Amino acid sequence: MKNNKLTTAPYKGTTDTYPKDMMIRNYIFDVWSRVAKRFGYEEYDTPLIESAQLYKAKSGEEISNQLYNFTDKGGREIALRPEMTPSLARMIAAKKKELTFPLRWFNIGKFYRYEKPQRGRRREFFQLNIDLLGMSTIDAELEIIQYVMDVMKEFDAPKDTFELRINNRYLLDYLFTDILKLSDELIPQLARAIDNFSKMKAEDFKEYLTDIGLDNKQLEEVLDFLSWDLSKLELLKGKCSGADQLLELFDKAKGLDITNIAFNPSIMRGLDYYTGTVIEMFDIGGSKNPRAMFGGGRYDDLLTIFGEEKIPAFGLGWGDIIMTDYLSTYNLLPNTKSNTDVYVTLMDKSLLIKTTQLTQELRKNGINTLMCLEPTKLNKQLKEANRKGIRWVIFLGEDEIKQNKVQLKDMDSGDSSVITISQSIQKIKEI
Ligand code: HAM
Repeated sequence: MKNNKLTTAPYKGTTDTYPKDMMIRNYIFDVWSRVAKRFGYEEYDTPLIESAQLYKAKSGEEISNQLYNFTDKGGREIALRPEMTPSLARMIAAKKKELTFPLRWFNIGKFYRYEKPQRGRRREFFQLNIDLLGMSTIDAELEIIQYVMDVMKEFDAPKDTFELRINNRYLLDYLFTDILKLSDELIPQLARAIDNFSKMKAEDFKEYLTDIGLDNKQLEEVLDFLSWDLSKLELLKGKCSGADQLLELFDKAKGLDITNIAFNPSIMRGLDYYTGTVIEMFDIGGSKNPRAMFGGGRYDDLLTIFGEEKIPAFGLGWGDIIMTDYLSTYNLLPNTKSNTDVYVTLMDKSLLIKTTQLTQELRKNGINTLMCLEPTKLNKQLKEANRKGIRWVIFLGEDEIKQNKVQLKDMDSGDSSVITISQSIQKIKEI
């Protein structure tokens, strides 16, 4: 019989979210969406299920391999969305004529990838997606970078714990074609190696490049490229659009006093649809969170998969799991104990109506109030309020009813006073 029992564990790589963790999640989502709205971004959504074809077109090998896909009862090949960008492009392409550009849109939603679960990686996770469509100038990148910096400020993130690393796909094209003169088939192999450069040992990286067929001169050129800084880009001015765009971005960022950003030639991004700027945010305060907190870039050509003209676009996807890890690493998670302000005790069954009326009065005044529904020992009720992290407790006994008052107890300080309901409301609200 024992063997027939169902497991209580959630499916591999997914997590049940208990109320305490829900408060953390809501805190992160609130910061993301509040700051997005502050920048004039509008919220949108897409279905959780999409045609699998959508991701096979331009998302790249990694996403295709990680798809949760199945054939539906009508024989269609379906996938749970692993990312937002192709769905967003589909939405825009479908209503292109009715929409007015530039568009500033954001969404916070669930995504699914068949990955090996590990720190920072789950099979089910949330992402914030924030995208600006219809602007080809670098000012789109700068606006979203400012958004990122404002979010980090809102999280109280110490300046020495994060760095936004920036590169440009056209600069990488310049490396592949103009410097290395690589064949078409070698380019994706080298691109994959560069994408993994920061995670690989130097010797393994060199060995891999030799194995895929790069000669010694090319190997040296790749290693030299990966050590470039902005001064090197100055020498390419007018010769490489990627270098020009990066120089303009860093120049304007300086004018806007944006800090915590760095040119990093090894930022590649695994997705195929990126065209110009590519970005990734890293925790640089230690080695606990080695994965990118978010990633994004320009995808000016993505609408062409729907047979539409191009629309310039730039945006990013920011995961909740890595963000929670980061905030917890630096003790930045809020100390919210409860969403409930007041616990109203029930002293006796006969007081149920009067106590409910009092509770409703508090709720009408916007105070989140939990009422005990079974009269138990007062100590037990106080313990319950404490366990739930509720700051205020209100008692309503025969004596208080006679005086038309209540007893209000502050669980933080231990102080209690017999006052009127309206005085209690005022006191609870002013703190
Ligand atoms: P991505 O790099 O595939 O980009 O994912 C972006 C972020 O989503 C990652 O940096 C990470 O925070 C989170 N993430 C991805 N996979 C997982 C996972 N298995 N578990 C937990 N978190 C994960 C994109 O998805 C692009 N569509 C982003 C974008 C928006 N580009 C332009 N606009």
